[in-house]
Amino acid sequence: MCGIVGYVGSDKAGDFLLSGLRRLEYRGYDSAGVAIHGGDTFHITRAVGRIDALASSLGQNPVDGPIGIGHTRWATHGPATQENAHPHVGGAGEVILVHNGVIENFQTLKNELIEKDYVFQSATDSEVVAHLIAEGLRVTPETPDDPSLRYVQAVQWAVAQLRGTYGLVIAFQDQPDLLIAARFGSPLVIGIGHGEYFVASDSSPLAGCTDRIVYMADHQLAVLRPGGFSVTHREQGKVTVQIQPLEAAEEEVSLQGYEHYMLKEIYEQPESLKNAMRGRLDEENATAVFGGLNLTPQQLRSVERIILTGCGTSWHSALVGEYLIEELARIPVCVEYASELRYRNPPIENNTLVFGITQSGETADTLAALRETKRKGHRTLALCNVVGSSIAQAADGGVYLHAGPEIGVASTKAYTSQCCVLAMLALYFGRIRHLSFEAGRNIIRDLQQAPGAVQEALNCNEHVKTVAEKYKDATNILYLGRQYNFPTALEGALKLKEISYVHAEGYPAAEMKHGPIALVDEKTPSVFIIPQGTTYDKVMANMEEVKARGGPIIAVASKNDPHIEAVADDVIHIPDVPAIIQPIVSVVPLQLLSYHIALLRGCDVDKPRNLAKSVTVE
Ligand code: AGP
Repeated sequence: MCGIVGYVGSDKAGDFLLSGLRRLEYRGYDSAGVAIHGGDTFHITRAVGRIDALASSLGQNPVDGPIGIGHTRWATHGPATQENAHPHVGGAGEVILVHNGVIENFQTLKNELIEKDYVFQSATDSEVVAHLIAEGLRVTPETPDDPSLRYVQAVQWAVAQLRGTYGLVIAFQDQPDLLIAARFGSPLVIGIGHGEYFVASDSSPLAGCTDRIVYMADHQLAVLRPGGFSVTHREQGKVTVQIQPLEAAEEEVSLQGYEHYMLKEIYEQPESLKNAMRGRLDEENATAVFGGLNLTPQQLRSVERIILTGCGTSWHSALVGEYLIEELARIPVCVEYASELRYRNPPIENNTLVFGITQSGETADTLAALRETKRKGHRTLALCNVVGSSIAQAADGGVYLHAGPEIGVASTKAYTSQCCVLAMLALYFGRIRHLSFEAGRNIIRDLQQAPGAVQEALNCNEHVKTVAEKYKDATNILYLGRQYNFPTALEGALKLKEISYVHAEGYPAAEMKHGPIALVDEKTPSVFIIPQGTTYDKVMANMEEVKARGGPIIAVASKNDPHIEAVADDVIHIPDVPAIIQPIVSVVPLQLLSYHIALLRGCDVDKPRNLAKSVTVE
């Protein structure tokens, strides 16, 4: 949550700051601001609302200097006002900073600073850090031999007092060529250019600017000047960082002709699924291969239980994973909301593997659940999309989704890639247990059908538009499915809720008659996910029950289903596919349905109200 950027070099900082903030806008869009050096001093511009509002303010008062910092906010402490927008200043204006994270002890620190006559302009926790660094400068002596040292020491002095999380980029009024970045719990990436450095909350703003990046680790602090950079660690002192190639290409983070990122990402799914499977299906041995699990053969064979944990859409893919792993590998699986797991303290047996599933790799609850289970001695693995993310650094091993940047707040391609990777993991664990060579081969064939089947499912888009037109004014929609498609029902309902603000509930189809059926009337449509399979007849019976009560029915059904038209009011056809890839295919029309309903209702599809892409607060 919250996006931060910084630039120091010889170009106009404002250009990078604005383009970077636009690419980070998915992390929060309540307000935005920049501080850019204008030759004499840093000029601060802030605006409530989107980056466009900031750009127009900057357009009226342009500042052209070669150093600056910027921020797009998802409000935690204090409403979305200009005063609460970043950058914040400390002392009498000598410190200027942007912050991502939450300072838990901000009130205590604030009280102490007020006693020392610091004057606060905002209700944010971040302003406390700015004043604290100013106080740090006051108590730190000058260091003539190393001009950066005093500023570094002041920042170190300040962050040592913080409880909570921070990604900070700090500028100093009397240092027009120095930025300091500090990280604990909130991601920061440094981009290395020629005589210039970039900082950002993730790598997306850096695509097109540089192809060399450094992922900062917790407790690291970076000093950036046009002539060079250095990184120190709180305990280890100066560290040699690993410079990595930037994976995201510029076109991956641009709309490329699509109206919205969500639509682009829905359409990227055939490709993202291929990327998830690339090099991981071993036909010769009828199994899957993973490079980064970091498990010895003995550890692998001794796994007795798997915990899958995540939030939101990632939690839904964990449910799909539960069905798949139990069915194919016969290992008991437990799916936990990460936010509950971290506090519930369930007994976890030895030989339990804990998978944290997360697109961003930054979700605070998932990260904390993983750390807590790791602390108790369990082996933790991450299943995530963003390379170099916090969870990738925290886990003992893991699997990347390779879905490419997902920018739309509503997760789409990451979900189907998660389901795909979980199916491959089920195959992998199955094959070192009871699963036969023949069965393994068949699963590989099933999985290989997924990209093509999703491509075919996308053909329903025009028809889904007409269905959306018909139901766009509904205020309640039920989503119902069984087995592998129960998580699909939950995911379809979540997609609709988050981007169109229409209330929706996902239920196991048969569970409907134990309560939700009371909601059914002629104004409450039910979406049934009813592809061919073992529970088809049962779900059909549930559909009849809804029809008998006058509820409109939208069915997502296999093409060539001879019975469905007679019962459903509207049918969206998907290809007939094996059960294990059904969740990957059947979710596609639901993604499109929510997209079109949201559009027709005039909602901001990529930036739904109150939400942000990665939830880095509890
Ligand atoms: C998905 O559409 C949501 N925006 C949200 O539920 C999301 O899946 C959740 O916040 C978890 O994010 P993560 O996968 O990055 O951890």
